[in-house]
Amino acid sequence: MEHIESSREFALRLDSQDELAAYRAEFILQDPQLVYLDGNSLGRLPKAAVERAKRAVEQEWGANLIRAWNKGWWEAPARVGNKIGGLIGAAEGQTLVTDTVSLNLYKLAAAALTLQQHKTRIITDTFNFPSDLYILQGIVEMLVRRPASNTENLTMVSRPSSHHEIVRIGAIDNDITPDLAALESAIDDNTALVTLSHVVFKSGYMYDMQHITELAHKRGALVLWDLSHSVGSVPIALDECKADLAIGCTYKYLNGGPGSPAFLYVNKSLQEKLSSPIWGWWGQENPFDFSLDYEPAPGAQRFLVGTQPMISLLTMEAALEPTLQAGMNAIRKKSILMTDYASFLTDVLLAPFGFTLGSPRDFARRGSHISIRHPEGYRINRALIEEMNVIPDFRAPDNLRLGFAPLYTSYMEVREGFDRIRRVMEEKRYEKYPSSRLAVT
Ligand SMILES: Cc1ncc(COP(=O)(O)O)c(C=O)c1O
Repeated sequence: MEHIESSREFALRLDSQDELAAYRAEFILQDPQLVYLDGNSLGRLPKAAVERAKRAVEQEWGANLIRAWNKGWWEAPARVGNKIGGLIGAAEGQTLVTDTVSLNLYKLAAAALTLQQHKTRIITDTFNFPSDLYILQGIVEMLVRRPASNTENLTMVSRPSSHHEIVRIGAIDNDITPDLAALESAIDDNTALVTLSHVVFKSGYMYDMQHITELAHKRGALVLWDLSHSVGSVPIALDECKADLAIGCTYKYLNGGPGSPAFLYVNKSLQEKLSSPIWGWWGQENPFDFSLDYEPAPGAQRFLVGTQPMISLLTMEAALEPTLQAGMNAIRKKSILMTDYASFLTDVLLAPFGFTLGSPRDFARRGSHISIRHPEGYRINRALIEEMNVIPDFRAPDNLRLGFAPLYTSYMEVREGFDRIRRVMEEKRYEKYPSSRLAVT
């Protein structure tokens, strides 16, 4: 944005010019005074989702019962997967909705390592979501452990190597940017898999997907992207980038609801080469033959495991509608404006109180949330939620995260949020809260 002002009139002017403004009315906004800046954690509730959940429960479950499986339930993981595929640049037949992000990472990473048996390095970074790192550590632990001699029948199906190592690339620039030079030199001929969050959860840094994928491919490594913070907020071109594998969640910018099922993407060129580490009946070639031996279903479908959470899946399908209608280019355009605007307001209104920007200043390297940092970040977050009707979230050690969901966040809401943060600082309202943390921050 060439010209930004901190006045409230300026926020009103931005709202009046906002091409996506009408979408706000498609969401439930029970409390008009609430400043909700946490759509990067749990998206607001779309009205269409309420209607769909009601129909799924009352009509499909209540009236149709088991017949509903043949009336659109059985195909739902692939059908909804294709819709999400349209948002992440994936041609049909490569994206499926299923399980959680963590489980999908497990399945795809284990499958990739099995395919790349001759290589032992897994490259990731310290910015990755901790669950992703734990899943990788668990896989390596499983591969390393030697089966005891008296458990021959329990030997793992595949043990590619006992020497896998996970390399975590660190950060530069005060924990805002990954050390790209270190990443580049870490990817070597022994690298089996590079796995990163496309937009990282704390600083909001966004990797250049095309560049990193090319680097990995030059060394024969596969790449697995976690799109949880970019799907629905940033245009993604998986096929164009020749990405191998991806996972992501649907409860953040896709507004699918708490615990709504995640998705996975497997590039067509890899589908027949990969084997899921979990052989369930939904991934079986003909599940209703009830054969006693597993035969993988063709394509990505082999990565399904068991019965899908239908109510949640169908509710999420309806929740996608506003995003599909608005289109990713319009969403990204507003998201860039909002993160620019919020960065500017941080400098002008909050820097005098000791806040610093914890996110990239270059919008091309940033997703749709920013972190603003303060040593008292945790207590400030509590005061905002409990007294000021503002909901950001806190990520240790000092990041107050502010997420901007272009379909329903207004510029005035952002401006008002900054005013309320300022009030907490002026009146030192955070001082009455303990530093000990609640279970969810
Ligand atoms: C980037 C990222 N990856 C993975 C996860 C874990 O997702 P799930 O709890 O669905 O396994 C999250 C959760 O917030 C996340 O933000």
